[in-house]
Amino acid sequence: MTPAIEIHQVHKRFGALRALNGVDLEIGQGEFFALLGPNGAGKTTLISIVAGLTFADSGCVKVMGHDVVVDYRDARRMLGVVPQELVFDPFFTVRETLAFQSGYYGLKKNDDWIDEILHHLDLADRADTNMRSLSGGMKRRVLVAQALVHQPPVVVLDEPTAGVDVEMRQALWHFIKRLNRKGHTIVLTTHYLEEAEALCNRVAMLKAGRIIALDSVRNLVRSLPGCLIRLRLSSDALPPSLQPLVAGREDDVYTLALEAYAQLEQVMAALREAGIRILDLQMVQQGLEDAFVNLTGQARQQESVSASAF
Ligand SMILES: Nc1ncnc2c1ncn2[C@@H]1O[C@H](COP(=O)(O)OP(=O)(O)O)[C@@H](O)[C@H]1O
Ligand SMILES: [Mg+2]
Repeated sequence: MTPAIEIHQVHKRFGALRALNGVDLEIGQGEFFALLGPNGAGKTTLISIVAGLTFADSGCVKVMGHDVVVDYRDARRMLGVVPQELVFDPFFTVRETLAFQSGYYGLKKNDDWIDEILHHLDLADRADTNMRSLSGGMKRRVLVAQALVHQPPVVVLDEPTAGVDVEMRQALWHFIKRLNRKGHTIVLTTHYLEEAEALCNRVAMLKAGRIIALDSVRNLVRSLPGCLIRLRLSSDALPPSLQPLVAGREDDVYTLALEAYAQLEQVMAALREAGIRILDLQMVQQGLEDAFVNLTGQARQQESVSASAF
């Protein structure tokens, strides 16, 4: 089957800055795919190239088999992009905006589908409101609607839930999941790693313009070195030999970073020798967040137990 998106050796510079540095990526039809990475990694640049809005310096990109440069119109028709930046014409209403977008694709009678999108994105009662009087979260929903007017087989969403409240995020994902079940390929970037973890089959991590990991969420989490344990002890002083393992402490609960499960024996022995009893022991479940931190070396949330201690 033709891949939904094929990216081959894409390079892009902005002056001296190498924004993309030889990106290879193939996304299959029907995938729910996440493109993750720290700010400035090159995600938006890559999406702009896929959308034909920016040209790569070298390399080749195809959407459903259509080259985004030489076969621009067909590639564009296969694709719906929700841009990261809020761009819109303030003088049009929501419905007018969507009708114009339909016209751009040569769709004249698109009202039924527009009504359905408005309904699913909870915009129906805003259909005749001018864009300029919508809140930021609602404008973003219109951007999502705009990307879907021509029912493209491939939908790319660049931070679609930034600044959108939790309830709307859930409604949006419900709708996007439905599209995915109907066979649409979905590619998203998001700051909320728990969203990517819950929704996506496969993940690519981009860092400084290179793909540093490409795998299923499950394999990325499994590939994390070592493990974290949380211990509550009968003494609040840890034996000196265990101090280097400390990854965090909250009152009488220590978090220790082990290189492997086998190191647990060494921990037990050291505690026994020091006459300290274990009151509680928990393995810490690691997730995509930890895989992200481990791979990119960049912390994302202050409050999460960081695996960078490994
Ligand atoms: N039009 C531009 N001109 C100059 N530099 C740019 C431009 N667009 C992006 N960059 C730079 O390219 C790098 C990648 O940016 P971007 O693709 O927006 O990253 P991300 O979306 O992953 O946060 C950043 O260092 C950014 O500052
Ligand atoms: Mg971006």
